[in-house]
Amino acid sequence: MSDKQQGFSSSFGAIMAAVGSAVGLGNIWRFPYIMGQYGGGAFLLVYLAFVFLIGMVLMMTEFVIGRRSQHTPAKAFVYNRPDRKGWRFLGYLCVFTCLMIISQYVVLSGWTTNYIVDSATGTLASLQTSEIGTHFSNFITHPWLPVMYLIIFTVITAVIILGGVQKGIEAVSKVLMPVLLVLVLVLCVRSITLPNSSVGLSYLFSPDFSKLSGEGVLAALGQALFSLSVGMGTMIVYGSYIPANDNIFKTAMLITASDTLIAVLAGVAIFPAVFSFGQDPASGPGLVFQVLPTVFNSMGGIGTVFAVMFFFLLALAALTSAISLLETIVAWLCESSSVNRYKSTIIVTLVVLAVGSVCALSDGLLGGVKILNKSIFGFVDDLNSIYLPPICAIGTVIFFGWQMKKEDIIDELSNHGALKIGYFKAFYFLVRYVAPIALLVVLFTSIYASLFPNN
Ligand code: TRP
Repeated sequence: MSDKQQGFSSSFGAIMAAVGSAVGLGNIWRFPYIMGQYGGGAFLLVYLAFVFLIGMVLMMTEFVIGRRSQHTPAKAFVYNRPDRKGWRFLGYLCVFTCLMIISQYVVLSGWTTNYIVDSATGTLASLQTSEIGTHFSNFITHPWLPVMYLIIFTVITAVIILGGVQKGIEAVSKVLMPVLLVLVLVLCVRSITLPNSSVGLSYLFSPDFSKLSGEGVLAALGQALFSLSVGMGTMIVYGSYIPANDNIFKTAMLITASDTLIAVLAGVAIFPAVFSFGQDPASGPGLVFQVLPTVFNSMGGIGTVFAVMFFFLLALAALTSAISLLETIVAWLCESSSVNRYKSTIIVTLVVLAVGSVCALSDGLLGGVKILNKSIFGFVDDLNSIYLPPICAIGTVIFFGWQMKKEDIIDELSNHGALKIGYFKAFYFLVRYVAPIALLVVLFTSIYASLFPNN
């Protein structure tokens, strides 16, 4: 408990930690390939609108709920609306969602860790282009390797959480985030100085509205929320650690801008190189694990250096996001039980290892197990991309816009009257009307699309 109330020591530390949460696999692995899929610049424009009008607004709501209450999700809602204890269930759902997301997240992070090793040891460099795909599928279906790497990654995450909010999360983020920025910039420079890089840049940035379907618009909103780590209580917990005199609007704005910048830079680091070596840009989720190794191999000996750098970058991004997910669950357990922070971390880590390992083996040993006709990984992926996040996010905006007292919100955003909040009317309108409607549309259309895939 005492550790929880300590919070971040500085505004810079708070921003780095939250940027660390936001910048993750979503930015570097996912954003570039969906941007490629849905019309490059056209997708980017829609994404920018969503990320600032809905994503950032949600981040501010979570910061307000968290900082005002100084509690973790379940208690934070009830603190802000003491007469409606039922809202605690939304808190439980947020925590459960974080558990599902991190269980899937550590699987992909484990793959990334394996790719650092494979590129550093020259294994990837020794493969022919035709062997790279098989190498990937052999790895993910291997009976224990994916689990081993998942354990390595998860234990590193847990050790940082054990260090505490200031000496663990904040200290690590203050170092890793600048390192991450440098790495991505180096990779960008390499990519845009390759022959024909302009083809990749124009693929990425020239808006092709014909490829931006309704599906692309929905994907943009889903990605905006996932990328900012909002709608799942994580930013409620981080909000409770934000220094009392920080300006929530400015903090959220900086985080949103940094997250978006890194996502775009990741695209710049990837696409010109992919085009320069004649690879397929629209290869979806396999882009990073199958196409990029081919690209690095085509660069010759120095390619190994860039490969290690790239996968290291991806792992760093994943690490600070996994930290925030684990922290949300640990902080919640600590607060809602008599278990101390140390033991809570151990317990939650063991649960994540168990659920994560089941997900990791779902392409291999547990390949035969199906839930509602899906592999285990596929089922968890559906929960994480279609159902849980939008439901939690809708709950959060409805709570904030329609249940919390307006005066309390104004008081918290203005730091008890010390700050001018000229944006308030627009902000309040977005939370009360625009965000819930947009989120409901996303929820229903994606449920419909998953039930009737051919329509
Ligand atoms: N934002 C991270 C990414 O882009 C993922 C993430 C971390 C997340 N914490 C979260 C998503 C909490 C939703 C909620 O990869």
